[in-house]
Amino acid sequence: MHLVRRTVAAGIVALGATAVLSGAALAQTVVKVGVISTYSGPFATLGDLIDKGIKLYTKLNADKLPPGVTVELIYRDAGGPNPDRAKQLAQELIVRDRIQILTGVVFTPNALAIAPLVTEAKVPFAIMNAGTSVITTRSPYIARFSFTLWQSTYPLGQWAAKKYKTAYIAVSDFAPGHDSEAGFEKGFTDAGGTIVGKVRIPTQNPDFVPFMQRAKDAKPDVVFSFIPAGRQATQIMKAYGDLGLDKAGIKFIGPGDITTDEELPNMGEAPLGVITMHHYSATADRPANKAFIAAWKKEYGEKSVPSFMSVGAWDAMDAIYTAIREQGGKINPEKTMEIWKHYKNPNSPRGPIAIDPETRDIIQNEYVREVRKVGGQLANVELETIPNVKDQWKEFNSQK
Ligand code: PHB
Repeated sequence: MHLVRRTVAAGIVALGATAVLSGAALAQTVVKVGVISTYSGPFATLGDLIDKGIKLYTKLNADKLPPGVTVELIYRDAGGPNPDRAKQLAQELIVRDRIQILTGVVFTPNALAIAPLVTEAKVPFAIMNAGTSVITTRSPYIARFSFTLWQSTYPLGQWAAKKYKTAYIAVSDFAPGHDSEAGFEKGFTDAGGTIVGKVRIPTQNPDFVPFMQRAKDAKPDVVFSFIPAGRQATQIMKAYGDLGLDKAGIKFIGPGDITTDEELPNMGEAPLGVITMHHYSATADRPANKAFIAAWKKEYGEKSVPSFMSVGAWDAMDAIYTAIREQGGKINPEKTMEIWKHYKNPNSPRGPIAIDPETRDIIQNEYVREVRKVGGQLANVELETIPNVKDQWKEFNSQK
């Protein structure tokens, strides 16, 4: 009797050990993904919006990984545009942490600094934000799941030329601002518009008032602007309102960075009527976006609003999970890039998206949006859709 009991007990222990062992065997494949983002300084809200997108995706999509495969996300803070720091962090993630995939990166200068490192180490790099066109040409290991500034500003220039004769350009003085200026100017002037003045605004801690005053003095029909999304969007909108450009009949337009969804509640009434071209609006009523917004609010609270950066993070995570799934958790850099080159999602919260296999840049809809009040809140209301827009800079600069 005694003996039997001991045997049964031993059997149970053995069973338990098998269960633990097979659990360990199943969880053996860990894919290490480095995330370089912006969690401190004046642009910290951007990193928070990206993180929330990453965390929501991983929470809701654990079943999209093969059995026994887990993802370890290793987060690093580059602060704002800081190429030296970004390079150092990427180096450490690659050499010390042995990441297999790199992602994140709000700022273009950081992405450009990282590009040679991912080439040398053959680490696939999925960009969640940085939007200057040239970035993807700097490494065959880069694919972009966000946008380019040319993708929104060139069509915006064309659209604006149908409504306005003259424009003044005011952009943040770094690479995505320069792309925005060039994209808008080409779109606007190709379609018959005239640029009556231009100014470049410091990227760090700008005072927008003198720049908006200059724009007002030039008496254009419209001011076109790009600034990094987040708090600066609210500051430039305030300068536009306070200096009375709207009352002087001067319209304000730009890529969606100037009316980024999460800042609209902080902007007062000044943005009402502002037109932007962009690929994502939190209030868009496609079913995939409604589901995304419902999940977001359930996780982060009714008042929390995702931005285009959150959706960039969500979609890049889906591409990362797709690559992991299709390779059974064993990451091969070349295969990962092949998978990303053919990545498509007809149902992103922003609408259909696909990676252009020739450029590794995203193809997506651009929407003409107007800031209106919906249910008492400001919202970017989509008015027109320009379907399947490629990076316009690459379209103009490719050897065809
Ligand atoms: C960029 O650095 O590429 C960048 C930063 C902020 C934005 C858009 C682009 O809102």
